[in-house]
This record gives sequence, structure tokens and C-alpha cells, in this order.
Amino acid sequence: MSVIDRNKLSVRNLDLFYGDKQALKKINMDIKENKVTALIGPSGCGKSTFLRTLNRMNDLIENVKIDGVIEVDGEDIYKNNDVIKLRTKIGMVFQKANLFPMSIYDNVAYGPRIHGIKDKATLDKIVEESLKGAAIWDEVKDRLKMPALGLSGGQQQRVCIARTIAMKPDVILMDEPTSALDPISTAKVEELIFELKKDYTIVIVTHNMQQAARISDETGFFLNGELIEYNNTKDIFTVPTDKRTEDYITGRFG
Ligand SMILES: Nc1ncnc2c1ncn2[C@@H]1O[C@H](COP(=O)(O)OP(=O)(O)OP(=O)(O)O)[C@@H](O)[C@H]1O
Ligand SMILES: [Mg+2]
Repeated sequence: MSVIDRNKLSVRNLDLFYGDKQALKKINMDIKENKVTALIGPSGCGKSTFLRTLNRMNDLIENVKIDGVIEVDGEDIYKNNDVIKLRTKIGMVFQKANLFPMSIYDNVAYGPRIHGIKDKATLDKIVEESLKGAAIWDEVKDRLKMPALGLSGGQQQRVCIARTIAMKPDVILMDEPTSALDPISTAKVEELIFELKKDYTIVIVTHNMQQAARISDETGFFLNGELIEYNNTKDIFTVPTDKRTEDYITGRFG
């Protein structure tokens, strides 16, 4: 039985300028719900810039000008000014784990507390569910009150994912989430991403071609601010239609 894919995000004619420099050029991209979409391409091609447009993280950078439309569930995110709500709906995990210097528990409870949840039993439940969801519960359940920065890098990254999940987002953006991790931690995070797509729409930037091929359903190849090719991952890696995509995935440049 085939299920019709639903688009979670829809990007139309997106241009982005840093001052005079154009970093994204007429990007058109539909991102499917409950799928993993990988963004690949050489350094400086605009992957992180693009990812940040999806939850308006570029708003924090000076001199950024954005044209075009980005819709989430059919709603134009640049027309609605509730950016806090947007970033709750579209969470982000960064390249380097960026936990706060507080306990594991407090890191995960941080967002829910800011949103006014004070009841201890409710917070306990959110923390436990989020850490379970991020496949790190068993490793930390006996030391929830210990400093989060005392965990290994791979554990910290999974707590970052738990912190994102705690906000109950629809979409999780990940910018090279495993590039600072050893192979075992990387494998754990990859397995986790595979699990998470049941409940979330995931967009991940990666420099690792094998990783993109292993974990993603759809892949977009960026070059010099353009989306050169966007297709299901299998086709991108086996029968790319653009010579530049082929050159990149076979390691001839970048
Ligand atoms: N805050 C900024 N101000 C000005 N230019 C920027 C800024 N951030 C990125 N750029 C420029 O925009 C272009 C795209 O950068 P971006 O960080 O999106 O690339 P990337 O594909 O994520 O690269 P990498 O793989 O190295 O992370 C680059 O030319 C970069 O120098
Ligand atoms: Mg980047």
C-alpha cells in the first residue's frame, strides 16, 4: 500500500543575502513529513544558512535579507512574528553539543520550565520521556542531578537531542550533529535519528556521504547557494542526474 507523502515544509523562491553577498539563490524545496532529509554539498555552499532559514535563526544575524516564502503546515513563517512559537515547533541541534552548565535534568527541563511548567511530577515525566526518546536514559538515569558537562561528547549530543524533544517540536533541524563524535557515538545518534522520524520531520546537514546515504530518505545537493539536485536518497546516490552532483558524491570535488 502506498502512502501519499505530506509536505511539512515548503520553500519557494528563497533568496538570502548577507549584506551584498547572495548566499542562497532561488531555492525551491518541499520537505516531507516524517522523513529524514539530508542536505549535502561543499563547505560554504549555504547548507547551514538554509537550515537556519527554516526556524528563522538568521534573524539573529545582522544585515541578512530574505526573499521568498517558507511555509510550515501551509503557514508563512516570515509573516507570523511569533518566533518563539516557531522555534518551539521547529527545534535545532547544533554541530557541537551546547548544554548549559547545569544538571542533566535541568538542561532537559529548561525549555518546559520557560514555558511555565512548574509541577515536579510533570517535569519528571517530560525529562524521562525525552531522555528515553533520545536513547540516553539508561546511561544517565542514575545521575540526573550531575553536571551535564561531565558527560562524554556523544552523550552530551544525545542530551541536546533530548532537550530539543522536550519542547515537543514537529521538526528537528540538525547541523552536522555527529561531526564531533567518535564512530560509536555517531552510530548511536544515527540509529536515534532513524527512530525519531516516526514522530518528527528531520532535516540534517552532513558532510558524511555514507551517513546521508544510510539515514536519509531524501537528499538535496547544494553548490554555491543553489539547490542543484533534490531527490530521493537512493536515486541521488545511484543515478544522479546532474554531473555536479555525481562529481561531488563520488569525491571528485569538495
Ligand atoms: N553571518 C554571516 N555573515 C556573512 N556571511 C556569512 C555568514 N554566515 C555564512 N556566511 C557566508 O555564506 C556562505 C554560506 O555559508 P554557510 O555557513 O551556510 O555554508 P555551509 O554550507 O554550512 O558550509 P560548511 O559546510 O563549511 O558548514 C559562505 O560564503 C559564508 O561565508
Ligand atoms: Mg555549515
